[in-house]
Amino acid sequence: MSARYQLSGTTAVEISAGIESGIRTGALSPGAALPPVRALAADLGVSPATVARAYQELRQRGLLVTAGRLGTRVRPRPPVAARRSALRPPPLPGARDLSRGEPDRRLLPPLGPHLAALAADTGPSVSYSDAGVLPELAEVARARLDADGVPAGELTITGGALDGIERLLGAHLRPGDAVAVEDPGWANLLDLVAALGLRPIGVPVDDDGPMVAGVAAALAAGARALVVTSRAQNPTGAAVSAERAEALRALLAGRRDLLLIEDDHAAELARVPLHPLAGATASWAFLRSVSKPFGPDLRLAVLVGDETTVARVAGRTRVGAGWVSTVLQRLVLALWSDPAVDELVRRAAQSYEQRRDGLLTALAEHGLRAHGRSGINVWLPVPDETSAVTALRDTGWAVAPGALYRIAAAPAVRVTVSSLHADDLAPLAAALAHAANPTPPPGFPT
Ligand SMILES: Cc1ncc(COP(=O)(O)O)c(C=O)c1O
Repeated sequence: MSARYQLSGTTAVEISAGIESGIRTGALSPGAALPPVRALAADLGVSPATVARAYQELRQRGLLVTAGRLGTRVRPRPPVAARRSALRPPPLPGARDLSRGEPDRRLLPPLGPHLAALAADTGPSVSYSDAGVLPELAEVARARLDADGVPAGELTITGGALDGIERLLGAHLRPGDAVAVEDPGWANLLDLVAALGLRPIGVPVDDDGPMVAGVAAALAAGARALVVTSRAQNPTGAAVSAERAEALRALLAGRRDLLLIEDDHAAELARVPLHPLAGATASWAFLRSVSKPFGPDLRLAVLVGDETTVARVAGRTRVGAGWVSTVLQRLVLALWSDPAVDELVRRAAQSYEQRRDGLLTALAEHGLRAHGRSGINVWLPVPDETSAVTALRDTGWAVAPGALYRIAAAPAVRVTVSSLHADDLAPLAAALAHAANPTPPPGFPT
């Protein structure tokens, strides 16, 4: 914990408010350790039960996490607005930042020409009464999903994939319910699950997607929802294979008590075929975001699913945010309809594939087996994340520690390949090999 931040309060409400304010101001940074319950209780002159209640409340709201011997810590991305600088330690000056999991901006289609065309053709302003999903957008979205074998269903639009997942989980589950999530899995989803007061059950992943025995175990443990990444799984790059999809569909067939959520965020960038699970369960939703191929700032995803599931999301949106701006919807429609944009996305996908495969090959030459079947990340198992991240930082590379993405999975680092050049591959692979197999310190073996 930050030595400067003094925890205070004599009631659970005061103690939790003090911790929350420390997180908000950045005095308690993500990952900061809080004192053990008994130590803080003794410090503040209150009973351990009071401190335990304060920690419990903050855990339920996703601000803190308690993990066995690691004790209680601030979550990596707690759901309170803190200064961005407090949320991410900046890489050292001059370091190459491969820690962000973002597409290469230079490979995103330029929005300018399409924005200009929209500006020239705005038409009358859309009002509350005629807003909603644009029928033209819905039609093109359906055709694109149909071409990939996603079953027909109801359709709505959300403000990105994660917004859709939040609305789905909020509509179907209650705080305390269990959600099966991939382990390792997308850090933002783990943070969202914590912020909704849900319990994550980790499902092990291999290159073919979530493992069948892990999904079966999560169902047996009472999971009420399962979130599966179709392709370009973050952080491992896994893609659900035809055989895995078949086995998972057989396991899930006809289940009425489980909400199945599929996240196809890589969409047009994936370069591996889609093998959807959609429709295997009575309650299902399939999300396709435009963030990765067309730009994260578009904040738009298409959600299809069974009638009840989509009606819940659409109905909840209507009484809250209302709708996703039709200006954005028209922009996405324009991008989807432009063959030149298609070509740019195709080239971006090819270029990510080359960089990823190039790094995997360079690592294999060092005897390292890393993962990255699709997408923009490579997942490299290491014996010790902290020393690997530090060793890499010392040689000028910033990568993400696997702890951000793991529940019980083995340690690893995530390397985002989107900005790599061909010249980077050999030195980066050498640095990663050194970080993954550190030279033991001189002296007596322990
Ligand atoms: C697994 C996964 N899903 C979805 C997204 C994109 O989500 P959104 O549409 O909310 O931008 C990402 C982005 O990193 C991701 O890694």
